[in-house]
Amino acid sequence: MKPLFKKLILFATAFFTLSALSAADVTTYEMELNAKKVGFPIQSTMYGIFFEDINFGADGGLYAELVKNRSFEFTQPFMGWTPFGNIQILDKAPCFERNPHYARLSNHGELTRTGLDNEGFKGIGFKKGETYNFSTYVRTESDKALKLRIELIDSQNDIVATKEIEVTGKDWHKVSETLKPSVDDLHGRIRVILVNQGIMDMDHISLFPAKTWKDRPAGLRADLAQALNDLKPGVFRFPGGCIVEGTTLATRYQWKNTIGQVENRPININRWNYTFPHKFFPDYYQSYGLGFFEFFQLSEDIGSEPLPVLSCGLSCQFEGNQCVALDSIAPYVQDALDLIEFANGDVTTVWGKKRAEMGHPAPFHLKMMAIGNEQWGTVYPERLKLFVSALRKQHPEIKIIGSAGPSPDGDKFDTAWKEMKAIKTDLVDEHYYCSPEWFFSNAKRYDNYDRKGPKVFAGEYASHDKTAKKDNNFLSALSEAAFMTGLERNADMVQLATYAPLFAHVDAWQWNPDLIWFDNVSIVKTPNYYVQQMYGLNKGTNILPLTLNKETITGQEKLYGTACFDSKNSEIIVKIVNSDTEAKTIKVKITNYKMKLTTGDVTLLQADDLKVKNEIAHPENIVPQKSTIEIKDNVIEFTAKKQSFYVIRVR
Ligand code: AHR
Repeated sequence: MKPLFKKLILFATAFFTLSALSAADVTTYEMELNAKKVGFPIQSTMYGIFFEDINFGADGGLYAELVKNRSFEFTQPFMGWTPFGNIQILDKAPCFERNPHYARLSNHGELTRTGLDNEGFKGIGFKKGETYNFSTYVRTESDKALKLRIELIDSQNDIVATKEIEVTGKDWHKVSETLKPSVDDLHGRIRVILVNQGIMDMDHISLFPAKTWKDRPAGLRADLAQALNDLKPGVFRFPGGCIVEGTTLATRYQWKNTIGQVENRPININRWNYTFPHKFFPDYYQSYGLGFFEFFQLSEDIGSEPLPVLSCGLSCQFEGNQCVALDSIAPYVQDALDLIEFANGDVTTVWGKKRAEMGHPAPFHLKMMAIGNEQWGTVYPERLKLFVSALRKQHPEIKIIGSAGPSPDGDKFDTAWKEMKAIKTDLVDEHYYCSPEWFFSNAKRYDNYDRKGPKVFAGEYASHDKTAKKDNNFLSALSEAAFMTGLERNADMVQLATYAPLFAHVDAWQWNPDLIWFDNVSIVKTPNYYVQQMYGLNKGTNILPLTLNKETITGQEKLYGTACFDSKNSEIIVKIVNSDTEAKTIKVKITNYKMKLTTGDVTLLQADDLKVKNEIAHPENIVPQKSTIEIKDNVIEFTAKKQSFYVIRVR
């Protein structure tokens, strides 16, 4: 054969093979969306967030205080501090009764200096040129004026900002100053020094960035709160989790200790301090600077329904397993009743007045509360009944959420559901921390749930890829996206869903995966965050049926799908997951829709590598991509890339 002719044949063969391959490889799947069958409403609360002070999510995280153990109340009062010179911890004639310890600095003119360094939470993050607000409470032993120097120190041990404050007065009083560091630093410190001879007492030594969420003084970290706001969460569950229960009843979360003047909120050990021996954080306490008032306020800021969780009189059943006697449970029930008054009561009521005094005379419109976290056994319903009867009598308007225990199935789960049906809670809180395979195969979990009983709150869930150290990788996110199609399709049954946990400090975490990671100055949104966001921003108002071969799409051909109508914007929203390693052509035929559809907005989360994740150094390895799609004859036709999650909003 002549060489040119041979080349032509080779070229032709290659051309036909390629065309044949692309036609054969990308199979077409025809889905039907019957727009006439507008179904059950999707609750505005459907996709939300769950905050627990785990992984230094509150102190060292969302709560922007930069000083650790600011009141010297940790069990070891100098924890977090490096004292130098003559320093004592005292509690006589304290500034704050419920946090009585303070530091006494005595400078007798020795050559050594007298003062304290604070290490912050794995360091203090500084941003060059930004303002930091320092404050503390002081008194002097005599009338002589004393000088207090404040220094910000960077990780090279250089002073990067300094100010002096003159202190006089034998009575406790607050002093403050602002500082502007001359460098960026991730692991800085703050130092206070008594410059001249004399004795000075100091308490509640505090440093906050001036820039906080909504510029509230001593408020929340702006970038973290903004990230929550950007999820458009419909519900905000707080404050835990296991910390609600406490390892012991004495260390349970007591909301009344978390309101009022911040300086006087008694601290509590955080149960995540010691829960995992391989993740021991002896310096993990709760200052409660982020307390129930702040939780309600944040719910309001970000447009979420507040959902507090209260102790049911059982401490963590995995650990301390303490049980308050039935005839001693009244104060626990009263806490629940008082909380409703705190949130919603008139300003003339005892607890409504306290809310007003904190700056919020208007009610917070609390509509629901959970009693208990992960509870099981007969001890739980015995106690829950007492709450339910008191709450129903005095506050029938409040929805009550009971627990289905710590796992998604099994004896504890089945018994708990039976009990919740008998007690008639409004919702049941289910938790599942399971493998990606579980999430994919549970996309149909709720399709056949009993519609007569309480509704479902998927209160804690996350896909745990144990083959990848439970990283927040794309596989976990994709499996959650697939699973969530089932939540949405069953929105008549599932009314709330919140991923868990929410936050983790990269240098101080106990539990992974987590939705948002952060260090002292920056944050990382995980692929799981983007899945939540894609649902949160596109929740719609009513379910629409989406089918493949007349069946709901729950994993056939590795496809998952759901659709809904957004009556506020007159838009149809389609969500499709292709978990296959091959691309697929999808045709969604929208039938019985009187309007001609022309365009759709597409949001796509996709990766060729299922193990890809975002990190502090590479926060945008995987982020959603936006595009538009043209629609002809009311058919949305597109090629779903391999391993992809699409949200298409059709106008
Ligand atoms: O989200 C972390 C923990 O997991 C929660 O505190 C608890 O409810 C669950 O066991």
